[in-house]
Amino acid sequence: MGKKDPNEIVLEAKSFLVSETDSDGIIKFANDDFCRYAEYSLDELVGEPHNFVRHRDMPRAAFKDLWDTVKQGKTWEGFVKNASKSGKFYWVFATVYPFKSCDGSSGYISCRRKASEDEIEKYTKLYKTMKAQER
Ligand SMILES: Cc1cc2nc3c(=O)[nH]c(=O)nc-3n(C[C@H](O)[C@H](O)[C@H](O)COP(=O)(O)O)c2cc1C
Repeated sequence: MGKKDPNEIVLEAKSFLVSETDSDGIIKFANDDFCRYAEYSLDELVGEPHNFVRHRDMPRAAFKDLWDTVKQGKTWEGFVKNASKSGKFYWVFATVYPFKSCDGSSGYISCRRKASEDEIEKYTKLYKTMKAQER
């Protein structure tokens, strides 16, 4: 792999980033690891739509696939490049689950772990191609 981008924040292997949204994708909760990498406090995140951390390199089709999948009640898995508050970025492998609580509320939970260097390289290329096709 080539030289590391100085703007990349590399996750620690033990990191586990969790966030919860309502059924419209509005953030209701984020754990400490999510806040730390995103460089926002929980207060800054809660109430914001989840595209708050979207990175401009992410293709629209990836999120269309995510939403199409979870709205069918299925689990979505995929690689996501997120932007941090200071303009840096970090890659994750995300699993997004739909849930229904016993109190009747429903929403989505995303759990994210470190993506490997090979995975990051592969998805950087793939998303670049997908972005180029958007124009
Ligand atoms: C539980 C959950 C977690 C999400 N996590 C992220 C995320 O970490 N980064 C991101 O860019 N989009 C995430 N999304 C997708 C966003 O809701 C949104 O579709 C995406 O950022 C694209 O923004 P746009 O629809 O305004 O183009 C998540 C959605 C859900 C339901």
